[in-house]
Amino acid sequence: MHQSTPMGTDRPIRADFRSDTITRATTAMRDAMASAEVGDDVYDEDPTVRALQERLAAMAGKEAGLFLSSGTQSNLVGVLSHCGRGDEFLIGRTSHVLLNEAGGAAALGSAIPWPIEVDETNHFSADDVRAAVKEPDQHHPVTTLLSLENTANGHVQSVDHVGSLAGAAREHGLAVHLDGARLFNAAVAAGVGIEAWAAHVDTVSLCLSKGLGAPIGSVLVGDRASIGRAHRLRKMLGGGMRQVGHLAAAGLYALDHHVDRLAEDHARAGHIAAGMSGIDGLSVVHATNMLWVTPPAEAHSALVDHLLADGILASFWAPTMRFVTHLDIDDTQADLVVDSFTRFFDGA
Ligand SMILES: Cc1ncc(COP(=O)(O)O)c(C=O)c1O
Repeated sequence: MHQSTPMGTDRPIRADFRSDTITRATTAMRDAMASAEVGDDVYDEDPTVRALQERLAAMAGKEAGLFLSSGTQSNLVGVLSHCGRGDEFLIGRTSHVLLNEAGGAAALGSAIPWPIEVDETNHFSADDVRAAVKEPDQHHPVTTLLSLENTANGHVQSVDHVGSLAGAAREHGLAVHLDGARLFNAAVAAGVGIEAWAAHVDTVSLCLSKGLGAPIGSVLVGDRASIGRAHRLRKMLGGGMRQVGHLAAAGLYALDHHVDRLAEDHARAGHIAAGMSGIDGLSVVHATNMLWVTPPAEAHSALVDHLLADGILASFWAPTMRFVTHLDIDDTQADLVVDSFTRFFDGA
């Protein structure tokens, strides 16, 4: 595989583990997109968008769905469908909505995030939720929402765990939103359907452009009233789109062909983790399609240079780098990264 040269390297890229968002639509997916029946979706007349929304809503056991351009937009309208100006939402400290969505809920909706501390697998407890809800008092913001994520940096939050968090939220009258950008990864890993988690929450944002391999798109599912509010917010954000059945067709194709195969991504990530496990001084955490790798601090920058020289890209954060497996990573590429690590540490 030879691609353009991201990250400033002028070497051919042989394996790109930066994210499962980097996949390109397959030929069959492109064919499905090209031949999609379309209409004006702002007029609610695009049959392919409607089919995608209805299908995901049904899969999640929810009343309605709304097609959006991105996970960020879907989470934003999801959170703001539950929070008004000055309302507070509780959220895990490492969550994508809090850290990586430009503070949109606060900037555009005046909703105030309250971060809850998490453990190394990005979990927090029902008691943490109870402790974070503010007493009704003139001094406090009104806590109206709990925002969850699954998988959380690759880690599956079990159905029971999400149920216990949502239960604590309900005791205080909170709504619950779930960022399910990778809920299908959780579902495949746990061997249950997405509806098992969706049953505990009001709205779920489902991404088509992560492990499912579509080039664009997310669908927010939930009860009709929440989705109605989200629909208006989408319009307000300039997110009403026209003949986007061509894009929704990629999502439908992905639901038909790319869900069960997520198990392959998880197995390849596990294979890489097993291959690295014998390397002294390397800490490796594997969760679904992600690997978190912490080399000795003094080796970090030389290791990055070595991997780049081998044509391997990852999210080279320090001290911990992230490798993500996806539709465009095969067994040879998985072996390549293990081999590259082994050669580096053998020579160290
Ligand atoms: C957990 C999670 N939620 C939401 C998003 C946002 O998705 P998008 O990049 O489509 O806005 C991402 C993006 O990678 C993500 O990892």
